Amino acid sequence: GRVAVLMGGDSAEREISLISGRAVFEALQRRGVDAVAVDTAEVPLSDLAGFDRAFIALHGRGGEDGVIQGALEALGVPYTGSGVLGCAIGMDKWRTKLLWRGADLPVPPGALLRPETNQQALVGSVGLPLMIKPAHEGSSIGMARVERLEDLETARAEAARFDDLVLAERWIDGQEYTVAILGEEALPAIRLETPRGFYDFEAKYRSGDTCYHCPAGLDEAEEQQIRQLALDAFRVAGASGWGRVDLMRDRQGRFWLLEINTIPGMTDHSLVPMGAKAVGIDFDELCWRILLDSRR
Ligand code: DAL
Ligand code: MG
Repeated sequence: GRVAVLMGGDSAEREISLISGRAVFEALQRRGVDAVAVDTAEVPLSDLAGFDRAFIALHGRGGEDGVIQGALEALGVPYTGSGVLGCAIGMDKWRTKLLWRGADLPVPPGALLRPETNQQALVGSVGLPLMIKPAHEGSSIGMARVERLEDLETARAEAARFDDLVLAERWIDGQEYTVAILGEEALPAIRLETPRGFYDFEAKYRSGDTCYHCPAGLDEAEEQQIRQLALDAFRVAGASGWGRVDLMRDRQGRFWLLEINTIPGMTDHSLVPMGAKAVGIDFDELCWRILLDSRR
């Protein structure tokens, strides 16, 4: 049947989604799928009713947060990846954190930062340095690392331009890892190394100076541990199908969960394709498997 590859949309990650979507579209075409590229910013959602299946390559609000998933459910069109609940939770870093905390999974100390929050008290409980994040953005949009109390307000105001919910989270000093999930399996961990301080928008999409290590250089027990943690975190958040879990490993070797991405990037810089490649699954095969696994 005909497959709609949904891309673009009108979130802050529109441009990334167009690149992900184009790559998926071409991969599915190479696999002989009757694929149609659909920019959801340009068609009424009801037009999707004519498709047999949808591959959702949308990032951010409207596409990765359960909205399009709900519309597709209502239209009776099977779609790839997590359902309404998993997407809605995954798109909210604060609620994800609360769920993980409730399930005794390791999350860095954090708190909501509202305009009226006593910033001194917050810094006292969360610690410094800390990360400021809009709760519902991806691709590190609006994020900043804060080292001094007096810089907190500027970072809060900047993040608040993107979101009415702003999260402050303790900065974990150590190394950044990500684990891709495909079906019921966690793929090999990837270690990210960027001279930019953290893996920000620039490092993700523009700069050539981020290094990716897969295998990640963990010993066997740690590799098992990080994969199991990623799988547990994925399930606790209600996610399914495919996705990516981002973590830190501190200097003492402890892992900390940062966030989940229910529709992670599928560009040629992207990490899920890298994890898949490490187990012999090329990009075309990856897209095919995600498509086959779509929800009814
Ligand atoms: N939010 C971006 C697309 C990612 O997680 O890869
Ligand atoms: Mg994200």
